[in-house]
Amino acid sequence: MNLFEYRGGRLWCEQQQVADLAARFDTPLYVYSAGTLQAHYERFRAAFAALDPLICYSIKCCSNVHILRRLAGWGSGFDVVSGGELCRALQAGAGPAKFVFAGVGKTVAEMQAALRAGVGLLNVESESEMAELVAVAGALGLTADVAVRLNPDVDAKTHPYTTTGTQENKFGVGPEQARELFHAYRATPAVRLRGLHLHIGSPVHDVQPYVAAIERALDLIATLRCDGSDVDTLDIGGGFGAHYRGGEAPPAEAYAAALVPLLHGRGLRVILEPGRSIAANAGLLVTRVLHVKDSGRRRFAIVDASMNELIRPALYSAYHFVWPLDAGARIPADFRGDQPFAGLETYDVVGPICESSDFLAKDRPLPPVRRGDLLAVFTCGAYAMSMASQYNSRPRAAEVLVEGDVVQLIRRRETYVDLLRAEEVG
Ligand SMILES: Cc1ncc(COP(=O)(O)O)c(C=O)c1O
Repeated sequence: MNLFEYRGGRLWCEQQQVADLAARFDTPLYVYSAGTLQAHYERFRAAFAALDPLICYSIKCCSNVHILRRLAGWGSGFDVVSGGELCRALQAGAGPAKFVFAGVGKTVAEMQAALRAGVGLLNVESESEMAELVAVAGALGLTADVAVRLNPDVDAKTHPYTTTGTQENKFGVGPEQARELFHAYRATPAVRLRGLHLHIGSPVHDVQPYVAAIERALDLIATLRCDGSDVDTLDIGGGFGAHYRGGEAPPAEAYAAALVPLLHGRGLRVILEPGRSIAANAGLLVTRVLHVKDSGRRRFAIVDASMNELIRPALYSAYHFVWPLDAGARIPADFRGDQPFAGLETYDVVGPICESSDFLAKDRPLPPVRRGDLLAVFTCGAYAMSMASQYNSRPRAAEVLVEGDVVQLIRRRETYVDLLRAEEVG
């Protein structure tokens, strides 16, 4: 479900015409739909309700604090992976008991900040990290609630760069090492070993890898309980899909149908860390065509958005559907379709950055575009603005949040002063 739709050939976000937003806030511009975010969050919560889980929205996917405040208001906790994300989560107003802190390389300063804030769960990923956390918590006179991140050695069958649950990956520890950690630290006052954490990759469109990973975690939990550990928590991570082409991501109910029966009645507090499935389809990127040119082999639409705003195509060869804001009657039937219809031309949609990897779409059938046209790049609510850079010294884009007919500027466009601010050092 999302509240971006073409009406009368023009693209709307809820009760706002997207072209009006571009005129008001300029381009490139991120536009988010609050109603879509909320619907996705509520649908996810309802699907897993039988487990009464703690849902910790994964801040890394879309980290604007105004969006985090909305999520906190709907009851979400937060998955954070850095001191900066912890700072955002605290600003958002959810209680820190609802925060989980993951990441293979937490610094001492980040551990201290998490412990002082009272973060609900620190997900530890190595023996070295556990030893450091014990020292840090001990020095502060605090006790850290900890889950050990289990690397279940399950292939999530997603892009190699976003596969995180196999022994090829840097994340977590294997079951034997996890058991050793529980054995070694069970009686250490500075840590309370609550359970296990999993996150196998993103996006994971097949429920089977989740089932396999959770079964491994449940086996290990049974062993740990036999060993005498009081295990009461299983954090199954995120990775649930979103629609880039349409129809590829199972609905929340399909994940839940496979996972709830596995997890129900186990005496476990279940934690979920969805990001993309909540935010991706709730945002789009609006860009203006600067020039059109033909190399003799390829036709380029050169736009004012780039890998600065959206690095996913360059990084993962990711697909994002692109279509003019003012599409007239020419809208693909299934909205994401690549199927050409009469009168389309094939374009590479590229940005102004001095890299050939700076493209938003390749070989894309589009109605003929002209200088000045506005294009929408869809499914840009996750891993888009949060991965933005200033490469080529280009200020980052503005973000607006639409709710009904109300528009809120939630991040102003950066200026050249912003580019230089951190360099004013004397
Ligand atoms: C530990 C952890 N949890 C949750 C997520 C969120 O994944 P997604 O946005 O696919 O739900 C990630 C993404 O990288 C992650 O690393």
